[in-house]
Amino acid sequence: MLVSTLAILLVSVRAAFNPLEHSGPASPYFDAPEQFGIPADTPAGCTVDQAAYIVRHGSRYPEPGSFAGWQALFNKVQNATFSVQPGPLAFLPDWTPPVDDAPHEPLFLTSTGAREAFDLGVQLRKRYRFTPGGSNFTVWSAGQQRVVDTATYFLRGYLSQGNYLSAPTLNRGTAFVLPDSVNFTFADSLTPSTSCPNYPSGDTGAASANAFRSSFQANVAKRLNAAFLRGLTLNATDIGPMMDLCGFSDEIDGDDRFCDVFEPSEWLDYEYAHDLNYYYGSGPGNPFSNTVGFPWTKAVRDLFVVGPGKAPEGAAFIPPPLIMGFTHDNNIPPVVSALGIWNTSIIPGVYPLSHTKPNPLRNFRASYLVAFRGYVALERLTCSTVPTSARHHTAGQQGSTPIGRPLGTFVRVRINDAPVPIPGCTSGPGSTCSLNKFSAHVDAQGLRAGDFAQRCGVTQTNATSDVTFLTRQPDTARGESAVVLSVP
Ligand SMILES: *[C@@H]1O[C@H](CO)[C@@H](O)[C@H](O)[C@H]1NC(C)=O
Ligand SMILES: *[C@@H]1O[C@H](CO)[C@@H](O)[C@H](O)[C@H]1NC(C)=O
Ligand SMILES: *[C@@H]1O[C@H](CO)[C@@H](O)[C@H](O)[C@H]1NC(C)=O
Ligand SMILES: *[C@@H]1O[C@H](CO)[C@@H](O)[C@H](O)[C@H]1NC(C)=O
Ligand SMILES: *[C@@H]1O[C@H](CO)[C@@H](O)[C@H](O)[C@H]1NC(C)=O
Ligand SMILES: *[C@@H]1O[C@H](CO)[C@@H](O)[C@H](O)[C@H]1NC(C)=O
Repeated sequence: MLVSTLAILLVSVRAAFNPLEHSGPASPYFDAPEQFGIPADTPAGCTVDQAAYIVRHGSRYPEPGSFAGWQALFNKVQNATFSVQPGPLAFLPDWTPPVDDAPHEPLFLTSTGAREAFDLGVQLRKRYRFTPGGSNFTVWSAGQQRVVDTATYFLRGYLSQGNYLSAPTLNRGTAFVLPDSVNFTFADSLTPSTSCPNYPSGDTGAASANAFRSSFQANVAKRLNAAFLRGLTLNATDIGPMMDLCGFSDEIDGDDRFCDVFEPSEWLDYEYAHDLNYYYGSGPGNPFSNTVGFPWTKAVRDLFVVGPGKAPEGAAFIPPPLIMGFTHDNNIPPVVSALGIWNTSIIPGVYPLSHTKPNPLRNFRASYLVAFRGYVALERLTCSTVPTSARHHTAGQQGSTPIGRPLGTFVRVRINDAPVPIPGCTSGPGSTCSLNKFSAHVDAQGLRAGDFAQRCGVTQTNATSDVTFLTRQPDTARGESAVVLSVP
């Protein structure tokens, strides 16, 4: 009885385990689980009146380096004479890398990535209802093609109004495109770390991740060789590309065969190597991560303090109530660091992350943050109590009575949809933080982060330590441009 219950439990655990949700930066977008038990819905009585998102581009083809790894695996298999047992590796003799137009595919968005971006546009239009028909809408994007394409597909999903897009004088969608990964835009960028000379310091993340990988990949190769292969010997070097090919093949052409090759515990090790890479590389384990993430965080805080439809004094542009920024994976963890989230625990010993032993209590998970099209979002909410007595409507007068008692303005953070509490500031509706306390929290985090130019060791004299691009026009002298959406 006990045994069969256990067996059923194990079977259902296996069925429920989805490697695509444990593939770190190779995961297609999925809503992260509610790690803190806070429901994702907007709390009753609250309305979001302003929101800011910093978003990784959608699913893409491989980087040239990983593509070379896939080709090496293909060559190794094709050059071998071997037999493979029935089972999850039986497809190996027939397998070809999922890139069929090498000069044009690597680095660019896949159709899955385009869909992810379009879907987010549709979702946020419905979630916030900020944009009445005909509103002009500007988003911000780092300059690499896959990022601009993500911004464009987002805009198309969000606006979706062909008449506005095709008539140039009515055009309502603009992407403000910033130079990507250069050393002369400093903090005023969606890719600020490349303007921070001190940034790649200490444990670079990659070294930590590689050391962890070397602790498990050889055993995985041994298991596969013993169970399935005669005449072909996989080694540790082959395991990384094979595990990457689960997410990438799914995203490129819907092929999930590599997802079935590995055991859940092997996926959890693969995932943890990614966690180490981002935690120590661009996240809270890098002492310059918060410095790099702070300017965007502060600019959004300043806009939340003045509220929607306004901008701080001296601004030349009033951003829309939905502030969208599109960028690369490594620019998302710095915002987590600047906010001081996902790096604290009431249970001691979780952070800094262990280099050798995954702690299941950690919140910092690459799969829940830098999956393709992953994001950190901040929402500003105005809240009232919800009336419990009957409500009345008077003919000819819009609205009903009684209305709720005002509770104030609050902020919450959502990472890949899941709400994440601000440490020590959760007394608002739905564990939100009051705007005043949030603002004070950001100031306190700013003291820890320091001044961008100074802490980063920038030598150029025109360095800027603030994000200003949200409240001004593009400056062509700095390589910025406005891309107006249109139907060709
Ligand atoms: C087999 O290996 C040789 C030598 O390493 C290489 O030049 C060749 O491209 C490989 N063949 C295939 C089909 O991958
Ligand atoms: C929309 O806003 C952009 C600034 O982002 C501006 O350049 C453009 O002229 C505006 N378009 C319309 C139709 O108002
Ligand atoms: C900025 O990058 C350029 C091109 O990579 C390089 O030549 C230049 O020395 C860098 N400048 C500074 C101040 O780091
Ligand atoms: C594993 O095999 C590849 C060839 O597929 C070879 O290039 C590499 O050096 C080997 N790695 C180890 C750790 O033996
Ligand atoms: C993250 O936590 C570690 C360990 O508690 C701490 O040393 C580090 O300063 C924290 N980083 C940030 C950005 O808060
Ligand atoms: C700083 O000066 C350099 C060299 O003149 C220029 O290329 C760059 O755009 C300037 N950066 C800013 C933020 O003004």
